[in-house]
Amino acid sequence: MKFHYQEFGTGKAIVLLHAFPLSASMWKHQVSPLVVAGWRVILPDFPGFGKSLIDEKISRMEYLAIGVSNLLSDLKIDQIVIGGLSMGGYVALNFVRMFPGKASALILAGTNASADSEEKKASRFTLIEKVKKEGSKILIDGMLPNVVSDYSRINNTDLIKTLKNDFEKASEDGVSAALQGMAERKDHNDFLDAINIPTLLIFGEQDKITDLDSARLLKRKIKNSTLVTIPNAGHYSNLEQPELFNKTIIDFLTVNK
Ligand code: MLT
Repeated sequence: MKFHYQEFGTGKAIVLLHAFPLSASMWKHQVSPLVVAGWRVILPDFPGFGKSLIDEKISRMEYLAIGVSNLLSDLKIDQIVIGGLSMGGYVALNFVRMFPGKASALILAGTNASADSEEKKASRFTLIEKVKKEGSKILIDGMLPNVVSDYSRINNTDLIKTLKNDFEKASEDGVSAALQGMAERKDHNDFLDAINIPTLLIFGEQDKITDLDSARLLKRKIKNSTLVTIPNAGHYSNLEQPELFNKTIIDFLTVNK
């Protein structure tokens, strides 16, 4: 299994992992500022998203973390900063847990360390059935209203249009495999106090999917962590308020290079 990836710039490597049901292109606003700041930016597509093919029925978070590690081996990179938003954050946590020493710093955006509740799992399996019957376009009604802030919904119609398009074109196999992988993911709360690398937590103030309670819990448990909340942003804070998101990560990276 190989991930398709995009790569920009030179310098120390930062790997950014995308949210569900998006692809590496969700980081488009972050690329130039990071390159200008002296970073080599590596953006994988998870299986069934963007240009990565899918050959498994379940995209387990551990399996995706191994895919990231394999990509680094192919690129002969020993150490990175790793960041992820939401599903990307689940994978980033697995990566840090499974490959100690490979990440020198961690960025967790709009994510959490908990396993799904039984209710959440059931809702994912219902969604899988709906996607199988009606296609990925049902994610537009099922998910889109919850992923952006009211501010973005009203003021950023271009973003809404782009997201509708991204949701609709996500492959059904990729969506089903990722939903199942997220439903079956393990709880990592027991690991948080063992994280000893600098960690940045970024959350949209109006995130309805991973709310500020999840953020505060991560902040309390991860010793060397900083929490920044982004006004007028929901779950996709990097797409909704890219300037503040970029400034926040670059300030963090400059101190933690
Ligand atoms: C995501 O943005 O990656 C998803 O909302 C994560 C999830 O459904 O748990």
